[in-house]
Amino acid sequence: MIPNVIATADPDFAAAALAELQKVGGQISQELAPGIWAVQLPGDFFALAEQWRQNPPIFVRHICPVQTILSLTDGVAEVVETAVTTFTHLLEPDWPFSVQTRVLGDLAIKPFDINKPLSQKLADASGAPLDVREPFQILSVVLASDSAYLGLSLAVNNLSDWAGGVRRFAREKEQISRAEFKLLEALEVFGIELPPRGRALDLGAAPGGWTRVLRQKEQYVTAVDPAWLHASLQKDKAVRHLRLTAEEYLADYPDTYDVIVNDMRLDARDSARLMGEYGRYLYPHGLALITLKLPEKRYDSALDHALNILRQHFTIAGARQLFHNRSEVTVYLKPVSK
Ligand SMILES: C[S@@+](CC[C@H](N)C(=O)[O-])C[C@H]1O[C@@H](n2cnc3c(N)ncnc32)[C@H](O)[C@@H]1O
Repeated sequence: MIPNVIATADPDFAAAALAELQKVGGQISQELAPGIWAVQLPGDFFALAEQWRQNPPIFVRHICPVQTILSLTDGVAEVVETAVTTFTHLLEPDWPFSVQTRVLGDLAIKPFDINKPLSQKLADASGAPLDVREPFQILSVVLASDSAYLGLSLAVNNLSDWAGGVRRFAREKEQISRAEFKLLEALEVFGIELPPRGRALDLGAAPGGWTRVLRQKEQYVTAVDPAWLHASLQKDKAVRHLRLTAEEYLADYPDTYDVIVNDMRLDARDSARLMGEYGRYLYPHGLALITLKLPEKRYDSALDHALNILRQHFTIAGARQLFHNRSEVTVYLKPVSK
């Protein structure tokens, strides 16, 4: 079976990702590595890419096309030369491009060994500018055992602009928790602009990573958590810390907010129920984000149940298993328009 797409997901959620691929008629031709599959689609890659651009899957994080499969036995230099001949005339010369190489398994090749010469030669031959941070067009190269899978697509086709959906952020000295990356990734993936000088409620805020990110985005933050916030936030006048549970604050006539975020360590369904109750404290123009912590077993039914609870109170604007999520799915919510 000749594959026409490579799909990537978190190996812990492989079953759910495979179900999403099967739903669109994908047949697995080979598992290249845990959570990375060569897949044969009935239609072409671009039909699926368009369908998923409008309605993204939750668990498949990244897709890229396979238009050429080369043998690695002839060596890296040969792969680079053939790739240049095959793809130069397909690159749009006015659009920035990048080459994204992934090396799977224990091959002795490094991504750089392909990326560097291939990008340089493609730039020279096509005239297209190289831009690894914000490429419009991406040549994806996946090396696995003795094959190189290559395909050219637009960045918007691939579900993520990053190779395999691996989105890394630079660590900052002032960073409070790794959870900060989760919020940064969610804002980026869902294309969320926070309202200027908005009022934000952070449920389950301690030690305060999300509160710090919200402050960086000029939000006035009410942080609700019985646990203490990091010292750097305690002296910030634009942060109000309520040492309460979310249940206690709910019983205490909460204010109304432009933004509500919820990273509480609670069962997904309980967290969704609480979030539902907070829905009435979100302004009609507001937005909300919640991470649903999923159990190891039967996570799919827990997720379905939690999403159904949320749907009773909000419009679900997006739901993705993000690179920085552990056993979680992040959901983007908007008030139901009346
Ligand atoms: C994963 S941590 C949040 C990390 C935070 N987003 C950050 O960036 O630093 C989960 C937090 O949820 C809080 N939590 C759990 N149940 C809660 C509840 N019912 N009400 C409020 N906070 C709760 C815990 O105290 C814990 O601090």
